[in-house]
Formats: sequence, C-alpha cells, structure tokens
Amino acid sequence: MNMKVLILYKSKAGSTKQYAEWLHQAIKESVIYDLGEFNIDDISHYDLIIIGSRTYMGRIDAQKFIVKNWAALKERRVFLFSVGLLPQEEEASRQAYELIPKEIRAKLLGYEKLPGRLDFESLNLLDKTISKLLGTKQSDNVKKSEIMRILEKIR
Ligand SMILES: Cc1cc2nc3c(=O)[nH]c(=O)nc-3n(C[C@H](O)[C@H](O)[C@H](O)COP(=O)(O)O)c2cc1C
Repeated sequence: MNMKVLILYKSKAGSTKQYAEWLHQAIKESVIYDLGEFNIDDISHYDLIIIGSRTYMGRIDAQKFIVKNWAALKERRVFLFSVGLLPQEEEASRQAYELIPKEIRAKLLGYEKLPGRLDFESLNLLDKTISKLLGTKQSDNVKKSEIMRILEKIR
C-alpha cells in the first residue's frame, strides 16, 4: 500500500485502542492518534482514515467527531469500525450504526463491528451500575485476528 493511513481511536477501557494498535502494526505506512488528540487541520496529509470507536449505551462514541468533522473527512476514504459486546448482526448494533447520518454511511469505504471486552472491576460506579442493570456479563472477546476483517477491505 503506497498511501498514508491515519488511524484514530476513541476508547475508554482500552479494547478499541488495542485494535487500533494492531492495525497500526499491520499497516506499515500508518500513524495512530487518540481521536481527542488529533488536530483535524492535519487531515489533508492522509489518503485513508480508519476510525475506531467503542460503543457506549447504544451509540458509536466517535459519531459526534465524525459528524462534526464530516466536511473535512468526506474528501478522503474513511473506514469505520466500532467495538462492543453485542455482535454486529444484532438489531441494537444495527440501530447504533444507523444513528450515523445516512449520507455519511453511504460514503464510508466500509464498516465493521469488532467484539469487545468488559472488565467489571475497572468500571466506574455509573458504568458498573448500568452494566448490572443491563445484566451484562464480564467477557473478553478481543482477538488480534479480528483486524483481518478490516485489512481485507482496505487493501
Ligand atoms: C455502560 C456500558 C454501556 C455499554 N453499551 C454498549 C452497547 O450499547 N453496545 C455494545 O455493543 N457494547 C456496549 N458496551 C460494551 C463496550 O462497548 C465494550 O466493553 C468495549 O470493549 C469498550 O471499548 P473500550 O475498551 O475501547 O473502551 C457497553 C459497556 C458499558 C460499560
């Protein structure tokens, strides 16, 4: 691949960041930033932008960033991946994805949802309470091999 690739991630407990780092290792010509630390004015340096986001309470957390910066992003190739406990084919996952405006979804190079991880002990009180209410179980399905689904689609 002879293009400059930018990987942006929005992660809280680290699983999305882990996937972003695996992608960064796999794509030689890539740079990686926490989405909150990236200066959007630098976007013109990149041909392909991979945005990774955790899912939080029915939303793809990077949605706000994508909508806010769409005027700059839409000129480039943008691949989105989200991370969460619910599988991609689940109705709630589809709904979370469809909260992203249709005109943005239509222009994405692709979208994948990768399996996440929940570590009860590391949650703050609010998240622990929400997780208990939802009956969410501790789990870890984060595997490096999942990034193949993204690599196959961008090459
Ligand atoms: C309070 C709370 C709400 C969550 N809501 C969702 C959700 O709506 N859909 C989903 O698939 N996963 C949900 N998750 C699971 C997270 O997306 C998962 O733990 C993910 O791996 C977190 O990403 P991070 O490690 O990058 O922060 C939720 C987790 C917590 C603690």
